[in-house]
Amino acid sequence: MPAPRFVERLNEQIAYEFAASQQYVANAVHFDAETLPRLAAFFYAQALEERNHALMMVQYLLDADAEVTIPGVAAPETQFGDVVAPVALALDQERRVSDQIGALVGIAREAGDFQSEQFMQWFLKEQVEEVASMSALLKVVERSAENPMLVEDYLAREQASGGAADPTAPAAAGGMV
Ligand SMILES: [Fe+2]
Ligand SMILES: [Fe+2]
Repeated sequence: MPAPRFVERLNEQIAYEFAASQQYVANAVHFDAETLPRLAAFFYAQALEERNHALMMVQYLLDADAEVTIPGVAAPETQFGDVVAPVALALDQERRVSDQIGALVGIAREAGDFQSEQFMQWFLKEQVEEVASMSALLKVVERSAENPMLVEDYLAREQASGGAADPTAPAAAGGMV
């Protein structure tokens, strides 16, 4: 069995991941309404990734025969003053999640719960990538605030290069999307 404190905190993290997913849907809808389809597509895809993170954590708790509760989540921010604000909010969120994931690793290690510590390793690496890609996007958006079509061009090139499925990713409850 995983350490009880780890189980409690991982259940909280499931709520944060679902909340991140909702926030990214809200960002995507905002950009869709502004007719910025590449930015919308970027955030719709990120929303699915966050949902998947939550379901990986659910699967781990199921596999470990630990208690898992599906939480309600805080309402996302939906009012944005400009094209930069949703991306700045996303970067803040990713940095906060990186801290949360680091804290989870610390709890597992302190408790001598090596399996939980190993489960968290993938999320450490994932957060490095998510913070890096969101901070790159923020730079491009800030630079192109006067002409958001430049961001659309940037994303068109980035999205064309595509991201391959990660074979090292933990299994998600219900299967990968
Ligand atoms: Fe996540
Ligand atoms: Fe993320």
